[in-house]
Amino acid sequence: MFDLKKVVRPNILSLEPYRCARDDFKTGVLLDANENTYGPALTTLTEDEKSLELNRYPDPHQIELKQQIIEFRNSQPNKFLKDFEKSKLKPENLCLGVGSDESIDLLLRCVCAPGKEKMLICPPTYGMYSICATVNDVEIVKVPLLYPSFQVDISSVVDKVVKDSSIKLVYLTSPGNPTGKLLAVSDIIELLEKTLAANWQGLIVVDEAYIDFTLDPNSKYSESVSTLVNQYPNLVVFQTLSKSFGLAGIRLGITYSSTDLAYFLNAMKYPYNISSLTSNVAKRATSLDSGLHIMAEYVANTIEQRQLVLDKLQSIEGIGRNIGGLDSNFILVEVLNKEGVPSNEVAQQLYNTLAVDNEVVVRFRGKELNCTGALRITIGTEQENKILIEKIAQVLKAINK
Ligand SMILES: Cc1ncc(COP(=O)(O)O)c(C=O)c1O
Repeated sequence: MFDLKKVVRPNILSLEPYRCARDDFKTGVLLDANENTYGPALTTLTEDEKSLELNRYPDPHQIELKQQIIEFRNSQPNKFLKDFEKSKLKPENLCLGVGSDESIDLLLRCVCAPGKEKMLICPPTYGMYSICATVNDVEIVKVPLLYPSFQVDISSVVDKVVKDSSIKLVYLTSPGNPTGKLLAVSDIIELLEKTLAANWQGLIVVDEAYIDFTLDPNSKYSESVSTLVNQYPNLVVFQTLSKSFGLAGIRLGITYSSTDLAYFLNAMKYPYNISSLTSNVAKRATSLDSGLHIMAEYVANTIEQRQLVLDKLQSIEGIGRNIGGLDSNFILVEVLNKEGVPSNEVAQQLYNTLAVDNEVVVRFRGKELNCTGALRITIGTEQENKILIEKIAQVLKAINK
């Protein structure tokens, strides 16, 4: 039987969450938190800033924001959700962080004892998992994504975690970075069910930073597995407002998990990690009557531009295949040498010349597993994409002369 008490570290199980006087009393003459009650040290304040009472500590719980986020996700559940009324998301399933980067670190500290326990990643993948693991002295076990599908090698992951009970977390990314490939939901379900059946006391984490680029506005369902956290106690999902919502600057990450695990994550987090400015913007962005429509428009534009960029790039001599998927706001294209073979040397030369002489910055990913010669290119605006294509064609022509 899966037992969360065997997953969460003993010191966290016994943690008493920080309580402030404001948890009990919210109005009146508030002289309980050593704030500056005269106001912010600013010469001017916009009306919005005034209403936010920036001299006061922010709300530690953010229920209104959480409610909006779950309404949005519940409106397009995953098709594997069995009993919507019983299992739909509640605000208590969520923990908000300073971007997903904080969520990744918080979960690691909740579950993995430094120097003793391990986490599993599937390269090529997002670099922060390893950085957080190293900072926390948590050993990393690697099971590469299958190549060329960039899907999870389910049997190898199950085999590894079942044989080594010190592995407590499996980090998956869907759609992947740098692969841009959505993981098959049926694979994720298989992994959840097989590891539960094997009595593995650990968590499957799905980082869905780019999931909104797969949303189909005409479907009842979405590919996101965030709505499945009440169905699978061993599932954790991360999302962020940094990508589809265009709000990387406000730093807002969302963790979805069972309410029991979310309780511990909320007990661990710094009480005031989400600033009043951040939650104000996040509430506007996730509201049904404004932000969500704009997000959907951005996603539609990105998808249209992604195909145009790819078509144009592939007509340039020296650009090879898109080796990743088309499920995200970037592509992963091979750069070829004169013999038509993917080449890190040429890719790096192209990358450097674009950045240094042409002020076009993309990402060299050729050193990642099975990504030889690859550049990861974010899809920009129509104007930016035109410049990108022009410059790539020019620089490659010069390199191949
Ligand atoms: C897979 C993945 N997860 C998380 C993040 C970081 O998200 P945030 O900006 O919310 O910290 C990124 C950013 O590139 C990412 O690619």
